[in-house]
Amino acid sequence: MLRLPSKIITLIKASKKEKVEELTEEAIKFTEIYNNHSWAGGEETRSGSGSTLNSTQNTVPLLQKFISDYRIRTLVDVGCGDGLWMLKIIPFLRRYQGHDIVAELIEKNKIRAKERGLRGVSYSVLNPVHEIPKKADAILFRDVAIHLPNELIIKSFSNFVASGSKYLITTNFPNEPETSKFYERLNGPVRIGKYRRVDYSKEPFLLPDPIFRIQDNEINPDGLMAGKHKNRELAVYRLDQIKGRVKELLDSLDD
Ligand SMILES: C[S@@+](CC[C@H](N)C(=O)[O-])C[C@H]1O[C@@H](n2cnc3c(N)ncnc32)[C@H](O)[C@@H]1O
Repeated sequence: MLRLPSKIITLIKASKKEKVEELTEEAIKFTEIYNNHSWAGGEETRSGSGSTLNSTQNTVPLLQKFISDYRIRTLVDVGCGDGLWMLKIIPFLRRYQGHDIVAELIEKNKIRAKERGLRGVSYSVLNPVHEIPKKADAILFRDVAIHLPNELIIKSFSNFVASGSKYLITTNFPNEPETSKFYERLNGPVRIGKYRRVDYSKEPFLLPDPIFRIQDNEINPDGLMAGKHKNRELAVYRLDQIKGRVKELLDSLDD
């Protein structure tokens, strides 16, 4: 398989003029995943099995309640994907900004929002590894870091801090049992677009405890956690409380 350096110069011919555009390895990889429908999710979504309406049915009311209780009015959703489930969260907000690295997905989301007459909703391409999102009450980073090497997660977190936003809501796998098949690779190396679980309480992240935890998994009628995303939560951090640790992590990348 062709191995690409982290930044690639691609020449794109646009309206007779030759324009040079930089595409990151992340952009190439996730666009490939999107175009090839590489993740499960069926007809409903190309963002993976965790983004279906069925898989998020327990998460939606919990996230809606968190948004109301913590007075979240503006949300920046980084790595928003194309899941329909977010349309159930948007009415609880004054402004919603969806970002993804896949340009085609963003265009489709824009059309969908227009067709549905959604207000206060916008979408644009943004990669938090290299760009700072706009300030918001909260930044959502759901099911994205699991596909990114730690270095890219740390750079993203640093840009979330730089945005001046208040909260970060991000996928976390606390208390992964040692017997779990995912345990050995927890926080370990991963190729862009592949999967391993992340627990921010453990090395190398060692973040303080989240201020709030939102369960993010399928639950059986008997109340027991079930399914592929067992043990998944959305951990809520105050960005001003983790900014010192994020700076240490960023500095350690330069060593
Ligand atoms: C598994 S999907 C999750 C989608 C959505 N957050 C959800 O919970 O339904 C991961 C999404 O993150 C996007 N993504 C991955 N790395 C990214 C990056 N560095 N910047 C922006 N988007 C990224 C992918 O293109 C994909 O749409």
